[in-house]
Amino acid sequence: MPSDHAPPHLPALFGQLWRSYLPLCPSAPAVKALLGGDVVRNDHVAFRTFAHPRLGIAQLAAPFVAAGYVAGGHYRFEAKKLHATHFERGPGDPKIFVSELVLEACSPALRGRVGALVESVPEAAYDVPLACDLGRVWDVSYTEYEALREESEYAAWVAAHGLRVNHFTASVDALPGQPSLAEVVERLAREGVALSHAGGVIKGSARVGLTQASTQADRIPVDFRDGRAEISGAYYELAERHALPDGTRFEGFVTQSADRIFESTDVG
Ligand code: NI
Repeated sequence: MPSDHAPPHLPALFGQLWRSYLPLCPSAPAVKALLGGDVVRNDHVAFRTFAHPRLGIAQLAAPFVAAGYVAGGHYRFEAKKLHATHFERGPGDPKIFVSELVLEACSPALRGRVGALVESVPEAAYDVPLACDLGRVWDVSYTEYEALREESEYAAWVAAHGLRVNHFTASVDALPGQPSLAEVVERLAREGVALSHAGGVIKGSARVGLTQASTQADRIPVDFRDGRAEISGAYYELAERHALPDGTRFEGFVTQSADRIFESTDVG
């Protein structure tokens, strides 16, 4: 008998997530095409949410856990008040990186605004098999978005877009010809792709096992209660994994690099 809890078919799931992500990052297919199109493999897919009992990391990760993913690492970003967990399965499967804003660490004003948004719709609205692709179920005004942005760009992003993929990530070391990330970044810059400069274009190092870069988030129109506004959508990331001194490939994430990658959706 079919069940709501049947493990999702992963290629179909990632296909659906890619289609939902495109309106937030319309430049992604062109960047992916510059890298080789269909040969590009995903290193990881990232999601953002609020640490609220209705839509925290566990809820977003549930379909992946049902498909055999397990937690592979936990990360803390003190200044941005974020916690994150990455989930992994087999060597060929994209990792899943889910972060959440720790509301208890935020101001009472922000906590009140976010709580009001999340609780403005029935709890059942979040009880869906694919919460990570739910989109925005609450109504929010541009004024509220701007008020949230004063304290947390991250909170404002989630308030405006809801639960959606924040970025897909090309696996640079799996690209044909095995170019370095520096070479790929140079090629993209030559083609006019806008890259995020927060913390330098290339974050991390071979020594820590991971180098990363990302595009600057696309500006996209979003409908708010008080009108339409152009704001930061999603971005496309590039990750190159390196061998550690013991010869194993680094499969985790580097907090200091991820901290600056989050800023790819900040408005300069
Ligand atoms: Ni990432």
